[in-house]
Amino acid sequence: MMNQRNLIAATIAAFAAGAFGLAPVANAADKPVAKAAVKPAAPAAQAAAKPAVFPPLGPLPAVPVPADNPQTPAKIELGKMLFWDSRLGGDASSPCVVCHEPSKGWGDGGEISRGYPGTQHWRNSQTVLNSAFYNKLFWEGNVTSLEAQAPAAAEGNVAGNGDPALMEMRMRFIPEYVERFKKVFGLEWPRINQAWQAIAAFERTLVSDPKKVPFDRFMSGDKKALSDSALRGLGVYHGKAGCIQCHNGPLAADHKFYSLGVPENEVFKTEPLYQITHRWEHYQKGVTHAGYRGADLDMGLYYQTKNPKDIGKFRTPSLRELKVTAPYMHNGIFYTLDEVVEFYNKGGGDAKWPNKSPLIKPLGLNEQEKKDLVSFLEALSMDQPLLMEAPALPPYQPLKISK
Ligand code: HEC
Ligand code: HEC
Repeated sequence: MMNQRNLIAATIAAFAAGAFGLAPVANAADKPVAKAAVKPAAPAAQAAAKPAVFPPLGPLPAVPVPADNPQTPAKIELGKMLFWDSRLGGDASSPCVVCHEPSKGWGDGGEISRGYPGTQHWRNSQTVLNSAFYNKLFWEGNVTSLEAQAPAAAEGNVAGNGDPALMEMRMRFIPEYVERFKKVFGLEWPRINQAWQAIAAFERTLVSDPKKVPFDRFMSGDKKALSDSALRGLGVYHGKAGCIQCHNGPLAADHKFYSLGVPENEVFKTEPLYQITHRWEHYQKGVTHAGYRGADLDMGLYYQTKNPKDIGKFRTPSLRELKVTAPYMHNGIFYTLDEVVEFYNKGGGDAKWPNKSPLIKPLGLNEQEKKDLVSFLEALSMDQPLLMEAPALPPYQPLKISK
């Protein structure tokens, strides 16, 4: 028993060290990996074909904090209040927390997120857990810091729909916020940009605790932290299933973009509210005439680059905390990890989009291997979800009119 465990652990260590290069990967991540490994390569090609080494999985490092927004307990506390405070939004109905609920894995639990009243959102609400570790946020990676993400959410017409000047004015009529902004930022009156800074500081505390994650405990030397099935799954992940090619590093995400051919969510074919948002997004983001008229699929990274090669590509998400973040994918099309693994095992979607990653191909996993892989994925979640009580929110108060 112990021997088998040690053997598997040694195998994993060797994978991490690149000893079993899965197969050569050319410079770009999104290239086929298998061919050169299978065919006896010409000497020159052989020299070039180094085994692929991927950043190893492992416990998350300390949260990166930008120099101009240091963490302080008072700032984090203020950020938590603002995360819950509906007055940072249009009609005071949609604070961050309604789409990022602690009890729903800090997402909203639906396939496609709820939207601002009268609208539908068009994407699955991402968890904010561990979002501090990404260098690009949102499914299409269109913002690069939590400080820039918060206003995009609070002002976005299908999310918070708040006007920044109005939201700032509201905070100025809440004496406790006036006090707190003074103490935290040295400001005479609350400013909206500092509200985003405070929210970002709070989000940087929403991270997986390595002591509570079985896989992290395993990596820190507790060889019993993983079940036999999860341990075998770890091998499948690095080997036959090749998940490590994109879901790598401590976050189990490489910060790159790929198209997997994820199946469409039918609501975009049948439901006017979803279609309205989709057309509107295409109008906002700018697409071709045909793209506008035919809006039924999410083009992902393309909206940012306008490069046809990026159509259908999404940022690789973390595989941490999956136990609480279903449903999965940018359109929430899968409810269980079994479905996700089956999807990959089949070789991904049917490539309606032209850019499906060549890394996604049939895996030939048997039933046991599929089960083991799911056990391993579950071991990347904390034993208990990160829950939190709602903070008490301070009331408005009239200001004395001065002349
Ligand atoms: C109406 C629902 C809704 C509201 C309100 C909302 N969000 Fe979101 N959030 C989403 C959806 C949906 C996404 C994914 C959108 C996309 O990729 O285009 C998202 C994405 C995010 C992400 C990116 C996570 C990642 O992995 O890249 C962060 C961080 C986040 N939201 C924080 C916030 C904060 C902070 C607020 C309040 C200021 C907020 N959200 C308000 C629905 C919402
Ligand atoms: C080519 C890179 C690549 C490979 C290989 C890959 N993934 Fe992914 N994975 C992604 C991308 C990109 C997404 C998001 C796709 C989308 O939403 O359209 C994703 C999404 C997921 C999700 C959903 C996460 C969420 O929060 O919604 C899970 C679970 C997942 N992958 C597991 C796996 C497993 C297990 C394997 C190995 C069998 C694997 N992936 C292989 C790139 C990859």
